[in-house]
Amino acid sequence: MQVALREIGNCIIRRCDPSDIIPVMEINLKTLPEHYSDYFYESLLAELPEAFLVAEIEKKLVGYIMCKIEYGFSNFKKLGFVKKGHVVSIAVLPDYRKKGIGRALVEESIAGVKLKKSDELYLEVRCSNNEAIKLYEKLGFVIKQRLKAYYRDGEDAYLMAIEFSY
Ligand code: ACO
Ligand code: ZN
Repeated sequence: MQVALREIGNCIIRRCDPSDIIPVMEINLKTLPEHYSDYFYESLLAELPEAFLVAEIEKKLVGYIMCKIEYGFSNFKKLGFVKKGHVVSIAVLPDYRKKGIGRALVEESIAGVKLKKSDELYLEVRCSNNEAIKLYEKLGFVIKQRLKAYYRDGEDAYLMAIEFSY
């Protein structure tokens, strides 16, 4: 049993458990066109449990966020080589949106990647996904690049990133 990191009304934000992977995959299938194998979810959970979080309401999972850590060129410092968190995927079921759950998931995953002393956190988002882009901007992410035809259907992505100081 994982401890609650945060409560928003009757919704609890907590770390993901291995037994949550199937419901997390179900939320992903219902909400996003980008899907992953069960092995991929398990490996993200094993590698970065601090930033693989779920939102739970009365024993039902309604949202998740999962991240990984990478080493590579900075999105902020020219030629800097840094430790970067990467938000691989976040989603909240439609009936539970606009209640602050998405924001809480991103904020708590920021805390999680900071526990690992990441210098930055980045993500890709569809250029048409205004809801998500607005949420990330409110939390301090900035658009750093436009990635042409990033998605399988040909849509471009924005690469958005936030830099941390300790
Ligand atoms: N009452 C009314 N509105 C509220 C309340 C409230 N109590 N609390 C927050 N809101 C508003 C916020 O202000 C915000 O609106 P605004 O930006 O117009 O001001 C809006 O609700 C969204 O904020 P949250 O509630 O924190 O986010 P939500 O739980 O709705 O989740 C998310 C956002 C995850 C993007 C959701 O829309 C979703 O799952 N979309 C489909 C999947 C998706 O697109 N995921 C992102 C892909 S990119 C990637 O994965 C890296
Ligand atoms: Zn990505």
